[in-house]
Amino acid sequence: MPETTIHDLFPTPLWVVDFEEEIYKPINAEIEAGLASLIDHRPEVPSGGTLQTDTDLFEFEEFAEITALIGTSVKAALEFLQIEEEFEITGCWANINPAGGVNTPHTHPNNFLSGVYYVRTDDGSDQIFFADPRPQAYVISPPVKQDNIYSGNEASIEAKEGRLIIFPAWLSHGVPANQSAYERISISFNIMFPSFGDQMSKPKWSPSLLLRRPK
Ligand SMILES: [Fe+2]
Repeated sequence: MPETTIHDLFPTPLWVVDFEEEIYKPINAEIEAGLASLIDHRPEVPSGGTLQTDTDLFEFEEFAEITALIGTSVKAALEFLQIEEEFEITGCWANINPAGGVNTPHTHPNNFLSGVYYVRTDDGSDQIFFADPRPQAYVISPPVKQDNIYSGNEASIEAKEGRLIIFPAWLSHGVPANQSAYERISISFNIMFPSFGDQMSKPKWSPSLLLRRPK
């Protein structure tokens, strides 16, 4: 048999960070207490709806610990990508899905990375799904003997308490209906480079044949 190697071109990374119980239990309690103190009014939730807070939670003392964990986890993800640029949290908010609550598939525009941290999940509210970003891959989908990473166009990851998931902000994702009797609580965030507008977005190339302006 000739030697055959498989090259996985352009893979989509997903960082799944599981904190130890002694780390995440107190942080989750702190987040729940923080939410209770910051939310003074809960609107009526229509069927299938989700409650979301303002997007500036990272600026509040009550969320300092989770903000720090997001920071160290994102730094590690960027290091994996060989990126040393300074980054910032541009948005951080809580999602409260009551029973039946859904988050339809979406992306997080104008950011590089996004992520979610789980504060409270139960059986029936413990999944997040990601959609294949290659629309062409949906066109022909023959049956396979066994599923693997090369088959299927959707992947689910377990959403469990104390787990933080980081993914490219362009990767479409959603949350199926909360089929448990309890609220599902998560913290979402976006990450971007502050230097993007005034430095990073400049051309990465230099003209090989430069047309100079007259002096
Ligand atoms: Fe999202």
